[in-house]
Amino acid sequence: MEIIILPTAAEASEVAARLIARQVREKPSSVLGLATGSTPCKLYQLLARMHREDGLDFSKATTFNLDEYVNLDPTHPASYHQFMEENFFSHVNLRRESVHIPDGMVADVPAHCAEYERAIRKAGGIDLQILGLGSDGHLGFNEPGSSLASRTRIKTLTERTRSDNARFFTGAQEVPHHVITMGLGTIMESRMCLLLAFGKAKAEAVAASVEGPVTASVPGSLLQFHPQAKVLLDAESASSLRRAEYYQGVYQNKPSWQTDL
Ligand code: F6R
Repeated sequence: MEIIILPTAAEASEVAARLIARQVREKPSSVLGLATGSTPCKLYQLLARMHREDGLDFSKATTFNLDEYVNLDPTHPASYHQFMEENFFSHVNLRRESVHIPDGMVADVPAHCAEYERAIRKAGGIDLQILGLGSDGHLGFNEPGSSLASRTRIKTLTERTRSDNARFFTGAQEVPHHVITMGLGTIMESRMCLLLAFGKAKAEAVAASVEGPVTASVPGSLLQFHPQAKVLLDAESASSLRRAEYYQGVYQNKPSWQTDL
């Protein structure tokens, strides 16, 4: 795990944007795993600007989103279909047929989840997966207790996540109980994972994920087993880390051949 701590979320998002831009330039047909929520908003703005101003080309890329609410119409303002459209897809040149988001309206959820897994495999697997972190340690919508080997499936949100996400709805009661999410096993097969977490509310989940034991009780901790996981933090989300100074020293003193960010 590489822990990168920058003073602000904006600076950490810039590092993430440069990493993704490098991935797409080196391999235009990259398969990107995408997240929603507040955390990646700045990152998507930066990628959109790189597309507009520097010609960053997404026309050969494929994307798979982590998750979507069950029984929430894709035109609902809080659906992840809408989120992606507004925050990213409408600003870059991804081909619509290369974009995948779980369909929360399907009648046969297990069949749809199996098909989602097949589509990821058919695309060649995910090259780079963007991840946020729940305040309860969830990755995707794999809530604490999720199988560490889980695949795309239906999950029930914890009340904490429902209340965290109430800000996107008119009230807490409106937040669906169920979601379709890529599994932890699915996420772990990505060639690179980029976890972003910002703000004081994430500090405990970050510390448990990075420095705690690997446990299904903290899904983020599974990334300790990933061979290529980078964790991008701001000062607040890093504030409960015991080895923060060490991580900062590592980042500032990288050998020149590694300082490409
Ligand atoms: C979103 C997702 C979730 C969020 C997490 C953090 O697609 O999979 O794991 O990344 O809930 O959400 P924010 O960024 O809103 O704090």
